[in-house]
Amino acid sequence: MNRANSMPQKRILTGDRPTGRLHLGHWVGTLKNRVQLQYEYECFFIIADYHILTTRLEGLGEIEQNIRDMVLDYLAVGIDPERCTIYLQSLVPEVTELHLLFSMLTTVPRLQRVPTLKEVMRSLHIETASYGLLGYPVLQAADILMVRADLVPVGKDQASHLELTREIATRFNNLYGPVFPLPETLIGEVPTLVGTDGKHKMSKSLNNAIFLSDDPATVEKRVMSMYTDPTRIRATDPGHVKGNPVFTYHDIFNPNVEEVNDLKKRYRAGRVGDVEVKKKLAAALNAFLDPIRARRAEFAARPGLIDDIIHAGSARARREAAETLRLAREAMGLNYFRTPALEAVR
Ligand code: TRP
Repeated sequence: MNRANSMPQKRILTGDRPTGRLHLGHWVGTLKNRVQLQYEYECFFIIADYHILTTRLEGLGEIEQNIRDMVLDYLAVGIDPERCTIYLQSLVPEVTELHLLFSMLTTVPRLQRVPTLKEVMRSLHIETASYGLLGYPVLQAADILMVRADLVPVGKDQASHLELTREIATRFNNLYGPVFPLPETLIGEVPTLVGTDGKHKMSKSLNNAIFLSDDPATVEKRVMSMYTDPTRIRATDPGHVKGNPVFTYHDIFNPNVEEVNDLKKRYRAGRVGDVEVKKKLAAALNAFLDPIRARRAEFAARPGLIDDIIHAGSARARREAAETLRLAREAMGLNYFRTPALEAVR
């Protein structure tokens, strides 16, 4: 309950595929927001490991470590498992059952029109989508509706999945009765951060990322090799601040506004070299990352912590999931032959 007005808290679900360590782009796009949301809403954060399988069938041995790294990053930035539920998709098997039921309510052409499908196929050079890849957004709809979430904070790229989620919920509710809320998308203010290459969105696979767990020397190295203003050859050439990733990062991560304004002024006038601008950025980034690193190290030193958080969170999510599934089956008239004893061994 929200003590301020004693209205029931709205429920949020969002999460990530466990692709490994998180970077500044994740912090800007979602993590910062999540840390705040956990004080205002009942939050569920899903680690969507089954979603990884939609595009990868080999090298799955890495997933476990990726999950551990990701949860450590969550904790390091201030996501508090006492305030929210962090859970692992594959430890809530009910989601696969709901996914199956939802797959009956979704047509193949509808899924073929989801824009992220084409994008993923193009970028990963997949010629023909598997049944599972085609169903990616149906599984995501099951994640979201499984906990009957009201709000889903995600990037713009996920908006089409939310649209499909609402369609599935509407279709279900019209056919069988009102079981599911129609979740709304909550899009953050700063949805994407450009990578150190200044060209693409920050992403691990493009090698243009600064990770939350990078050590100070690595951060400095990555900053010193950052893309800046290609039209500027000498420090005395007037430079462009707009669209220059070094200044984009200064604006976001350097709290010393005076220093940033002074650098911008001198940059435009050709009175400061890239080295000074970058050294100051590296210092600002390291000051930003220091407390995150310290918390990360603290949590990493506690054996069993990550396992305990995942087990407790998944048990909590599973209780919600079982109840949702029971309601869905009941509405559909599918609860035949189920006895309490049968449910208990699930
Ligand atoms: N598709 C999301 C992404 O790639 C990850 C995800 C899976 C998710 N299930 C979800 C996000 C449920 C929000 C809600 O980022």
